[in-house]
Amino acid sequence: MTHRNVSRIAVFASGSGSNAENIVNYFRQEDSRAEVALIVCNRAEAGVIARAERLGVECVVIPRPEWAEADTVIQLLADRGIDYIVLAGFLLMVPPALTARYAGRMLNIHPSLLPRYGGKGMYGRKVHEAVVAAGETVTGITIHRVTERYDEGAPVFQATVEVSPADTPETVEAKIHALEKQHFPRVIAETFLGKQ
Ligand code: GAR
Repeated sequence: MTHRNVSRIAVFASGSGSNAENIVNYFRQEDSRAEVALIVCNRAEAGVIARAERLGVECVVIPRPEWAEADTVIQLLADRGIDYIVLAGFLLMVPPALTARYAGRMLNIHPSLLPRYGGKGMYGRKVHEAVVAAGETVTGITIHRVTERYDEGAPVFQATVEVSPADTPETVEAKIHALEKQHFPRVIAETFLGKQ
């Protein structure tokens, strides 16, 4: 068995990739036990692709049809020696063969206090629209294990933020992004690698 000191993380993202960028920078600046060695994206027009290029992190686009079978992504992860997977705004179902292979080594972030405002169709801005429409006074983030059942893996961390009557989906989204930025990389590090 070869021994590597630095664990290799793949971040899966479908959108702007602000969390992906934050995670890349965290492991460059704050914690050298791991690095983001790969970003995997399912949309050729996603903002995360330009971010990855700017950051100098390899980014591979796997189009949606190829996710039905896990072979392409499993081969890619094996080729790159990936130890851990982080879903950061990744909007496709992860194939069961992949969740099984990375059992205990995969985390997702969801922009609400699960089990509230989770499940199919609940992602990004749609979650914040629902929270505001329901008149919630509190929302937050959930970081959880990934299983083959959407948004249902065991939570490892939640943080809350107040919602005021003046808030809109846009202002709630900004608050949630700030919470994600503050907590997600450290929770990834502590879950996979333990406290520094
Ligand atoms: C984040 O807020 C993340 O919690 C959410 O998508 C956003 C991605 O932003 N994820 C989901 O809704 C998953 N169901 P980003 O692309 O700027 O990191």
